[in-house]
Amino acid sequence: MFDARFWMPESVNALTQGSDALFMFILWVSLVSTAVVVGAMMWLAFRYRPGSSASRDRPPRDHLWLEITWTVVPTAILGVIFFWGARDFITMSVPPADAMEIRVMGQKWFWTFDYPEQGFRIQATEETNEKNAAEGKPVGLVVPVDTSVRLVGSAADVLHSVSIPAFRLKKDVIPNRYTTSTFHATKEGEYDLFCTEYCGTKHSNMITKVTVLSQDAFAAYVEEAQEQAAGPVDGSNVFASSGCAGCHAVVEGAPAGIGPSLYAAYGRDEMLTTGETVVIDENYIRESIENPAAKIVEGYGPVMPSYAGRLSEEEMTALILYLRDLGTDKEAPI
Ligand code: CUA
Repeated sequence: MFDARFWMPESVNALTQGSDALFMFILWVSLVSTAVVVGAMMWLAFRYRPGSSASRDRPPRDHLWLEITWTVVPTAILGVIFFWGARDFITMSVPPADAMEIRVMGQKWFWTFDYPEQGFRIQATEETNEKNAAEGKPVGLVVPVDTSVRLVGSAADVLHSVSIPAFRLKKDVIPNRYTTSTFHATKEGEYDLFCTEYCGTKHSNMITKVTVLSQDAFAAYVEEAQEQAAGPVDGSNVFASSGCAGCHAVVEGAPAGIGPSLYAAYGRDEMLTTGETVVIDENYIRESIENPAAKIVEGYGPVMPSYAGRLSEEEMTALILYLRDLGTDKEAPI
C-alpha cells in the first residue's frame, strides 16, 4: 500500500536491502496494534459511560484464553522482529573479509576519509566540497560501485555520527574508540552524507556527499589522488619516533623485550594477568597505548607509560593500523 521506502531515498546498499521491508512490517504492526488497543478502549469507554444502560452485573474476574492470546501473539510478533532485525543488523555490521578499508574521522567540523590500502586521504570540508562541486570533481567520500567497504570510524574531539540515508547506514564515531560499519554500493551516483549528532555551531558544515564511481573511474580517481601531496600518516614512523621499539619486538622470531612482541598479534587471543582472555583488536591496542595498566598480558609487568595525549588522533590511528598489519601480507615496510 505505502511505497516500501516511504520518505527515504532509494536504497543503493546491497547489504541493507531487507531493512525497508522490516521497517514497513514494524510500521504496520504498530498501526494495527494502535487501532486494536485504542479502538477497544474507546468502545469500552463509550459503552460504560456514566448513565449508560450496559449491565454492570457479574464483571469478569479472569478470562484464560484472552490472557493467553494477548501474551502469545505479541511475543510471537516481537520474536519475528527480533530475529529479522538481528539477522539484518549482523549483515550490515560485520564487513566481508575482502572489504576495502576506509577510515573516517569526524572532527569539528569536517570529515577526513583515509584510504590506507591506496595511500591517500580526502578531507571533506565545506570549502573542498564547494570547490570540487564547482569543478565537476567527486564530492565527499568517494567509493567504487559493487565493492564491499569496511568503514572504521573515530572522532578527534566530540561525538559525531556518519549517516548515509541511501545506504541505510548510521554509525556514531566516538573519541577514543573505533566503530565499524560496512556497505556495498550497487549504483553509481551522488548521495547525501550527514553528521547526525549535534556537534557544535557548525554541525551543518559536516553535510557532504558520498560519490559512487564505476570501478574504472575509481581507479583513475585513486591514481590522481595518489599523485597529490600528503597521504595519511605512516604508522611505522610513529612507532619509531615514539620509542615503542625499545620494549616491543616487531619481527618474526625476535626475542620478546620488556613488553610482548607485537608481531602478528592482531586478532590473537591474549591471556591477561587477571586470567581473563582478550581478543587483540583496534580498541584493545588503543587502550593499551593510552592506559597500558588496564589489561596487562600474562607474564609482563605494569611498566609501560601511558601515551594518552602524546599522539594526535591521526598518529594514533596510523600506529594502530601499522600494528594491525604487522606480520600480515599488508605489512608496511619498516
Ligand atoms: Cu559532527 Cu554534527
